[in-house]
Amino acid sequence: MKKFDPIAYKKMVKSYQDEDKPTDWFDSIYTDAEGDYREVFWADLEPNPYLLKWLKKCIFKHTGRKAIVIGCGVGDDAEALSEAGYEVTAFDISPEAIRLCKNRYSDTTVNYLIADLFDYPPQWAESFDLVYECNTIQVLPGKYRIQARDAMVSLLAPQGYILVSCRSRLKGEQEDDIPLPLDKEEIDGFIRCGLSEESFVAYDDTQEPPVPHFFASYKK
Ligand SMILES: C[S@@+](CC[C@H](N)C(=O)[O-])C[C@H]1O[C@@H](n2cnc3c(N)ncnc32)[C@H](O)[C@@H]1O
Repeated sequence: MKKFDPIAYKKMVKSYQDEDKPTDWFDSIYTDAEGDYREVFWADLEPNPYLLKWLKKCIFKHTGRKAIVIGCGVGDDAEALSEAGYEVTAFDISPEAIRLCKNRYSDTTVNYLIADLFDYPPQWAESFDLVYECNTIQVLPGKYRIQARDAMVSLLAPQGYILVSCRSRLKGEQEDDIPLPLDKEEIDGFIRCGLSEESFVAYDDTQEPPVPHFFASYKK
């Protein structure tokens, strides 16, 4: 098992970003876990509490609707959506992440797949009632963040919802951070794409020191 070194990690990610290969390193994080999903350093190993709150508060029925999870990691949020009643597709660009999900949830009804948000199967376009992403846009640099947002919007069925969960920052600050949190203007890009903001929460998480976050929902 490779011990997580935050400085080496940031250096490694930056080197891939500088070579304009911003997604080529993700699989290495999962292979470093050597088959143990609990060793993936960014995995909380529980569903996002803000996702659970949203599911509880939402007035429409989840049962039978179609959800897609972008960059599903080790699967906690995909499983929570499935438990809420969605028919869930969960994908990740990392083959090892998907292998970990399939081993972890051998009886799951979630359809775990290897896929790239930037080149997803064409039949997925406009076919999901819920598009969910947690912490994926923030690990992408520059133009790829906008491409990710646009790809997410393109997956939405009519009347569908997008949920975005991410670290946040004030505009102009932390510009060199990895991951690079989203600022308000950036997340408002979903509104500029023609969606309406249904809910927006800015909060600090429970880490020491606390890390500011956004959790937002948008409707088509
Ligand atoms: C920071 S991790 C977050 C994982 C998970 N959502 C979570 O909250 O624990 C970002 C995830 O997005 C995946 N990813 C990055 N770019 C992607 C792309 N273009 N298509 C699909 N998955 C991608 C990575 O492999 C990684 O699993």
